[in-house]
Amino acid sequence: MEEMSVTRVALLGFGTVGSAVARRLASPASFVSPVSSEITLTHVVDRRARVKQSASGLPSSVLWTDQIDDVLASDVDIVIEAIGGVAPAGEWIRRALLTGKSVVTANKQVVAREGASLWRLAARQGRQFRFEAAVGGAMPIVRAVADGLTGDSLTRIVAVLNGTSNAVLSQMDATGCSMAAALADSRRRGFAENDPSADLDGTDARAKLAILCALAFGIRLDANDIAARSVSSLGSDDFAVARRNGRTIRQLAFADFDRGTSTLGAWVAPVAVDRDSIFGRTVGAQNVALLIGEHAGEIGIFGAGAGGDATAVAIIGDVVSIARDRAAIVPPPRLTSAFTLRPSIDSFEDAVVPTLAFAEAV
Ligand SMILES: NC(=O)c1ccc[n+]([C@@H]2O[C@H](COP(=O)([O-])OP(=O)(O)OC[C@H]3O[C@@H](n4cnc5c(N)ncnc54)[C@H](OP(=O)(O)O)[C@@H]3O)[C@@H](O)[C@H]2O)c1
Repeated sequence: MEEMSVTRVALLGFGTVGSAVARRLASPASFVSPVSSEITLTHVVDRRARVKQSASGLPSSVLWTDQIDDVLASDVDIVIEAIGGVAPAGEWIRRALLTGKSVVTANKQVVAREGASLWRLAARQGRQFRFEAAVGGAMPIVRAVADGLTGDSLTRIVAVLNGTSNAVLSQMDATGCSMAAALADSRRRGFAENDPSADLDGTDARAKLAILCALAFGIRLDANDIAARSVSSLGSDDFAVARRNGRTIRQLAFADFDRGTSTLGAWVAPVAVDRDSIFGRTVGAQNVALLIGEHAGEIGIFGAGAGGDATAVAIIGDVVSIARDRAAIVPPPRLTSAFTLRPSIDSFEDAVVPTLAFAEAV
């Protein structure tokens, strides 16, 4: 009989995502692990560790601390980063890799800014850096683009990547309510933060799109260079007009890469989409992505784009992948900065046309 090894996991951040991950890891029967390794949660790091521990329901064997050094000095195999934000998350991930841990993160901002160098560091350390949860919640798009679709030459991505915007816009469409009312409802249902500006103005979707462009096209794209238009000024009148034309409005993330000339068009903006298109049918906090390849044509991925339980699915999938083969080294993609970014915001109206035609064709 093969001997059962133990994979020790530390969790950073016991918030919406972290607490859902912890609950799942504490009851291993809740996920199928095709791994001859027992996955055990050993540490939780949170700045309010003492307050949260008592109500956590986690086994007493889990060590709670507000000190990252307690994890770095331990024999933990995998660190899950779920605190969010750029600092200290980026530094903690780097230090975890330097002390020989593999890292799983849900943090799109850190991955968009530092993902390539963190992945290279992981490979140098003989460890893994995985971030499925950073794009699309439970939707396995990172894996699809970085792995399953490498047999194609992807040329275009059209996606709904921000669950909050989608929840707000689909609510406005369904009820005719104002954006303020839709936001209040989304906050009540846990889809929107108190300050939703990063979701509405496209900052969140731009970071996710930059990650997908790196994986799909092999380019090093600064998320800040992606043109963006906010959805925040949309009102019930805009939805009424769209409805009269058989359309609704979604925040779309779009990237189109011409491999012949190495030019990229990339933007995040509100777009009137056909109601019957896959984008029009994506409601609430759902996400959807259509990927176009030169060989396979259209590939679609659809699913829950936000929420603790949904995001935990992606995180646990990454943990299981690492536990399955801890010695595996996943080589980072080679990224180039040798491409031209089309001034999409100027040509935005033109760019919408092929997207609409595309959406209607779905
Ligand atoms: N929520 C989603 O649906 C979703 C979906 C996909 C990806 N993500 C990503 O997942 C990550 C976590 O998101 P979330 O929604 O779970 O956030 P959250 O609810 O705010 O949880 C973050 C947790 O980390 C703790 N924390 C923050 N800074 C810390 C620090 N410096 N030291 C120790 N603990 C710290 C927070 O403590 P306090 O309680 O004191 O604030 C909180 O418990 C983010 O990168 C987010 O983008 C979230």
